[in-house]
Amino acid sequence: MVGNVISYDKKTSARESQTFAELVKSRSKMLAPSFAEDWPNLPVVRAEGLYLYGLDGKRYMDFMSAFGVVNVGHNHPAVVAAAREQMEKQVHGSVGVTLHESVLRLAALLPEILPGHLDMFFFGNSGSEAVEGSIKLVRNVTRRPAIIAFMGGFHGRSYGATTLTASKSVYRTGLDPFVAGVYHVPYADPYHSSHPDEPEKCVEESIGSLEVALKRLIAPSQVAAIMVEPVQGEGGYVVPPKEFLVRLREICTEKDMLLIFDEVQSGFGRTGEWFAAQAFGVEPDVMTLAKGMASGFPLGAVCAHQDLMSRWEPTVHGTTFGGNPISCAASIATIETIKREGLLQKAKESGRYLLDGLKELKATNRPIGDARGLGLMTAIEFIVPGTDREPNAATAKAFLNEALSRGMLTYPCGSAGQAVRLAPPLNVTRGQIDAAMKIAGESLKTLQ
Ligand SMILES: Cc1ncc(COP(=O)(O)O)c(C=O)c1O
Repeated sequence: MVGNVISYDKKTSARESQTFAELVKSRSKMLAPSFAEDWPNLPVVRAEGLYLYGLDGKRYMDFMSAFGVVNVGHNHPAVVAAAREQMEKQVHGSVGVTLHESVLRLAALLPEILPGHLDMFFFGNSGSEAVEGSIKLVRNVTRRPAIIAFMGGFHGRSYGATTLTASKSVYRTGLDPFVAGVYHVPYADPYHSSHPDEPEKCVEESIGSLEVALKRLIAPSQVAAIMVEPVQGEGGYVVPPKEFLVRLREICTEKDMLLIFDEVQSGFGRTGEWFAAQAFGVEPDVMTLAKGMASGFPLGAVCAHQDLMSRWEPTVHGTTFGGNPISCAASIATIETIKREGLLQKAKESGRYLLDGLKELKATNRPIGDARGLGLMTAIEFIVPGTDREPNAATAKAFLNEALSRGMLTYPCGSAGQAVRLAPPLNVTRGQIDAAMKIAGESLKTLQ
């Protein structure tokens, strides 16, 4: 590079004729590190159901459902057929300028499965966009500046969503200044609280801090909303005591603040109910959705009741691609598939079976400090044996590598990457869970 003139490598064009394997080798010259430099960079040529078929000729169990996206499995035939049929008719339509049938059908269908009174939608393309939209909605409607979020929360990568995120400091590194008006308080995280075996005290710790913040930092009259993941995802697959969410609801109602549930990761059957809100019996005012919504076709949504949503002034927010016809058709097919195949019930049963298996592993393996979960959103947490819950990311990473070499892909979570999520598609079979537990058991043996 001379001054601000960049000299281009003429060889780049020759890459067009390279094989997939050769392209994989040159990926770091083509793809931004923040896009592609993750673990394990597994080259995949095909995906079906639970399985990924690698370029290396091996078959891998996807025990993270591509981050909770393929809840009905990869390339479910009903989803692919619906998307293909829609694609033949219309690929794109910018909602508002034109209208297409699938976005309206989806909007008519969602209230059937959503908790409470959520019946009006803004569709975008991702979780971050849904979170960003929800921030704009609550600020615009209430004309209040502040949002309260939680330590350990992950809400996405756009600026507003990154500002709300507090699961790992690296997600925020070098990005200041953030969006103003965001405050973080502790989440009710049972395993990491000072009272791991006393859920009431764990709730009190968190709610007490919130109450202090509302007295000393920011008055409730300035708070547009509290944003919370009802089960934390990237933060470590943390299931709070139900009372935590009940108290948040009460405080929001009492103090006239809105409650937003970010169900981007916990939604669409992952916890054994359509949404975690239903698993806990708590209704938010606003909900954000994405990931499992359309089985891999890009789609996200901000959901609220008409009374609230219709006060969001037109033109303040908008989208070119949001509510894409193919993604909406895929979403309808995803919802119908979950219903037709009884996947909520299956997720509950398989989740219990999987968690029992993980608890057995914990009982016999000292580096596992905790096994937890709700439905098929489960995790094990690695600690340094003999310490008081000291996170052990190195052992978690070694476990992940061993599991991958045996044909199971999972992924870390938690503040240090010390936890390992196990979140297979909702139609995973007992036989497949047994196979996963065998791989987990063998992998753990190699670590000792
Ligand atoms: C709870 C939650 N919210 C928001 C997001 C951001 O979603 P996306 O990556 O689609 O922007 C994620 C992604 O992991 C998430 O888990």
